[in-house]
Amino acid sequence: MDGLPHWHFSKTASRRCSGGLSATLLTAILSLTSLHAGAQAILEGERFHPVTAQHGMVATSHTLATKVALDVLENGGNAIDAAVTAGFALAVTQPRSGNIGGGGFMLIAPGDGGEPEAIDYREMAPAGASEAMFQDEDGNVVKNRSRFTHLAAGVPGTVAGLALALERHGTISLRQALAPAIRLAKDGFTVPQRFTAGLEQARERLTRWPATRATFYKEDGSAWQPGELFRQPDLAQTLQRIADNGVKGFYEGETARLIAEEMERHDGLITLEDLKNYTPRVRKPVHGNYRGYDIYSMSPPSSGGTHIVQILNILEGYPIQESGHNSAKTIHLMAEAMKLAYADRAEYLGDTDYVDVPLEGLTSKAYAKQLRADIDPANARPASDIRAGQPAPYESNETTHFSVVDQWGNAVSNTYTINFSYGSGITVEGAGFLLNNEMDDFSAKPGVPNAYGLIGGEANKVEPGKRMLSSMSPTIVRKDGRNVLVTGSPGGSRIITTTLQVIMNVIDHGMNIQTAVSAPRVHHQWLPDEIRIEQGVSPDTIRLLEDLGHTVVTNSAMGAIQSIMVGEDGTLYGGADPRRSTSSAMGF
Ligand code: GLY
Repeated sequence: MDGLPHWHFSKTASRRCSGGLSATLLTAILSLTSLHAGAQAILEGERFHPVTAQHGMVATSHTLATKVALDVLENGGNAIDAAVTAGFALAVTQPRSGNIGGGGFMLIAPGDGGEPEAIDYREMAPAGASEAMFQDEDGNVVKNRSRFTHLAAGVPGTVAGLALALERHGTISLRQALAPAIRLAKDGFTVPQRFTAGLEQARERLTRWPATRATFYKEDGSAWQPGELFRQPDLAQTLQRIADNGVKGFYEGETARLIAEEMERHDGLITLEDLKNYTPRVRKPVHGNYRGYDIYSMSPPSSGGTHIVQILNILEGYPIQESGHNSAKTIHLMAEAMKLAYADRAEYLGDTDYVDVPLEGLTSKAYAKQLRADIDPANARPASDIRAGQPAPYESNETTHFSVVDQWGNAVSNTYTINFSYGSGITVEGAGFLLNNEMDDFSAKPGVPNAYGLIGGEANKVEPGKRMLSSMSPTIVRKDGRNVLVTGSPGGSRIITTTLQVIMNVIDHGMNIQTAVSAPRVHHQWLPDEIRIEQGVSPDTIRLLEDLGHTVVTNSAMGAIQSIMVGEDGTLYGGADPRRSTSSAMGF
């Protein structure tokens, strides 16, 4: 461990005020007394209404995962117990991103105001990895080698990370946390339409691999149809081995052997030794402050928290509430701030176990003031003036996020992934789970963009045992020491800006959490030099942005942010993202 304070969750500490006000009355009072404080819970007459509950809330991207995690809370488990249960259940019900073959980050904030901590279970490069492994003899990056081959997989961290979270802060056993997932894998679950659509979309990429084809498609090659029962017997056994033997049931023994043999058969790098050496880390989250709210988010090897805080620091100098949600003026300022942050990301961010990252500087108010001075309120600054680079097309992505708050006010914000939808597309034969293609998040060569168009440099080059840079941004916002917002999203490079906007929608624009989650989003990542906008931003606004010199591209939905807000009286408000048809928030 990293020597952080080892706090405990108290089941006796209550976060509730006695005789709580009704949510509507509370909100009416808030809106009268705090004009710009934001963080409104719910207002009558709004178009979107969150799910409300009094004792516990779970928001995930799959109803079945939400349900089994909620059962844990209702049976007296805490937020960590529920989060770990959801994590394993998603590995069964949402194999395109829920996983045991990938990695991620969990942010945990106790309800008693104690220090939040982060668990880093990002994948690690195998010992045999090297700086030029994705380049040919002439130093050119080989297309797709870092995406769709066995070399694309980093050593998975999910099982070790979830187990560590449970060991440090949970009250149930790993076996108990795995039980619903094992049942769902063994007995099967009813396929939703999105499951079928995903497999149809990825058919070409997935059916190249016999084990993937056998696991996710029927014998005749057709995809499982909505309403049919889908079982995963190999995955059930893999999960059972973890239940029986703990993390050794994955990183050693039969499962480790199956992974290592899969690698040997296809010139992959992960060995038994790599698996045995995988170590999750306890990290100190990035901490910033925005208009009186404390922002806690993920530290390196994710870039997420650093740049959320950096962008918020820049925007704090502008009257965002006054300029209004998604007005041309607000979007312009956001885009200019985003460009600066993503340019810094390319230069400075990497795994702090390997490189020095100037975190303090990047997240300081003084640096933000300096950057703000370069922003012209009347003109878009061309990306090439900030830094030269090669734009690249966006690729599909499918990370997944879930948020949990329990009856003691403890909060968990977890984002994990196998990178692309279905990761590398490679299923470990006999083990029933997909391997990540997270090695693509390293810089294959300085200046050459990854699948998300993100440029990286020396700080993020491939090195043995190193963790690749991420954008995952599990975030918890506090006010006066109290957890008030738990949020985070998938979306590759757009994770940072998606999470940022939900924070701003709540704090600057006073939206209830469902409105904040549902509102159209915008994104700029420096390169390519364009503002990406979801449907729902008016043509007038787009024209005004173009007049300021921006290139505006309307494209498909960004992110799937599963969020929970906690009202001042302790009422819980869940906002599941309508951008995923299987998203759900439930409470009790
Ligand atoms: N694989 C996407 C990310 O970690 O940012």
